[in-house]
Amino acid sequence: MGGRVLSVASECVPLVKTGGLADVVGALPAALAVTGWDMRVLLPCYRALKAQTAGWPVVWEEGDLWGGPGRVLAGTVAGVPVLLLDAPHLFDRDGGPYSSLQGEHPDNAIRFAALSWIAAQIAREGLADWKPDVLHAHDWQAGLAPAYLAYHGNGGCKSVLTIHNIAFQGWAPGHMLGILRLPGHAFHTDALEYYGGISSLKGGLVTADWITTVSPSYAAELMRPEFGMGLQGVLAARGPVVSGILNGVDTSVWNPGAEEPPFGPKSLAGKVSARASLCQEFGLDVPGPLAIVVSRLTDQKGIDLLPAVVPDFVLGGGGLIVLGSGDPGMEAAMRNLAARFPGRVAVRIGYDESLSHRLFAGADAVLVPSRFEPCGLTQMYGLRYGTLPVVSLVDGLADTVIGANPATLAAGAATGITFHPVDTLAFGQALTQLLVLYRQPKLWAKLRSNAMAHPVGWETSAAAYAALYERLTG
Ligand code: ADP
Ligand code: GLC
Repeated sequence: MGGRVLSVASECVPLVKTGGLADVVGALPAALAVTGWDMRVLLPCYRALKAQTAGWPVVWEEGDLWGGPGRVLAGTVAGVPVLLLDAPHLFDRDGGPYSSLQGEHPDNAIRFAALSWIAAQIAREGLADWKPDVLHAHDWQAGLAPAYLAYHGNGGCKSVLTIHNIAFQGWAPGHMLGILRLPGHAFHTDALEYYGGISSLKGGLVTADWITTVSPSYAAELMRPEFGMGLQGVLAARGPVVSGILNGVDTSVWNPGAEEPPFGPKSLAGKVSARASLCQEFGLDVPGPLAIVVSRLTDQKGIDLLPAVVPDFVLGGGGLIVLGSGDPGMEAAMRNLAARFPGRVAVRIGYDESLSHRLFAGADAVLVPSRFEPCGLTQMYGLRYGTLPVVSLVDGLADTVIGANPATLAAGAATGITFHPVDTLAFGQALTQLLVLYRQPKLWAKLRSNAMAHPVGWETSAAAYAALYERLTG
């Protein structure tokens, strides 16, 4: 069996990344190849990507793509087969994928409608030598792709929409319906209409042949008002075609055996020396557990809880290094913590892939106090690196970490520390538990080896995607 899948997204490692979406989109083609599914990834050709496309063949041309022509260039980057939508009037500009220093790009609705339009065209008609069996759209940026297939014909191609984060819904004013090449009857509460406008995510949710979320718990949570963020009813109505498939981690990228110095479950000397180097680099002297945070600094991630819980953690012997950027208020709060606790707390504001590897290698624990977390990747890096995850018991975090308690400790199953509800009281208790467990070397070693033995690779989930594609096309 097997077949062809056109994956459509706004981010893909190693080309462009603002979060875990990019990691997942970039890892899936190789993970699926072993199942017999040939996946290519369609992305916008942002300004920074243009230089890489020299000599790439043009495989699709579109004369009128909302104010200018578009063409699709095909190539392979770090083993990922990619199709880049080159439409300079939409994507050749300053800033990131969604915004510049002036704020959000004002034409985002059109930019990503164009991506989705081209995806649907290729899915429906096929390239000269490659006709997809399945179009796999990711998040709101690709949400209109299943809708275009549904409203303009699918040419036999099935569609899957994966929700990585329902907080981002891609809203545009209602008068743009025709501009976005959507039919009048789509402006209906049972279709794309959303609070008087158009939601491209909702467009995908109501039209895709199947919907997945990035963890099983998130699928269930999204049908509840607390987590569905307005779309809970839409999800619930489509319940029979919604399923959760947990993300994996690219274990060739996140590999303790490839860090400097290397280490593994049976040889932890490299981890001990990585910890010493980190402490030296950041000027820290930490008698207890050294914790890290590697995260976007946003409300979703519960970063605002840190100032209330870190003082007691530090008093108890703990230390903390924060790597992240985002909300200016949270960045300032992190800098304040570092200033209050020199030698124990350090902060690096910014995005630094190589530092993030050194942090996971050298730290004892990674803190992920998210209010909601569709899947989350850093707790899985923590498992693989023996850097115990301390996580709130929500969505994907609950699906990946087994919290230490009398039952899981007795069963020898615990892989981290979990807490709920997501507040400073429960988070503070979890950090106290971390201090206590760290003081018991035998127990700590057992937890760490459980964590490192926990499978976080793509094998199981890639097989689940392959089975879904088979079911849809079979
Ligand atoms: P989200 O996609 O919601 O941000 P995930 O946990 O799924 O959360 O993925 C976040 C990804 O971004 C991980 O690969 C994480 O290591 C990375 N990351 C986040 N912030 C930083 C940072 N400041 N520097 C380096 N990597 C970061
Ligand atoms: C989103 C979610 C995160 C998930 C990632 C990849 O950014 O916030 O939980 O891991 O997508 O699916």
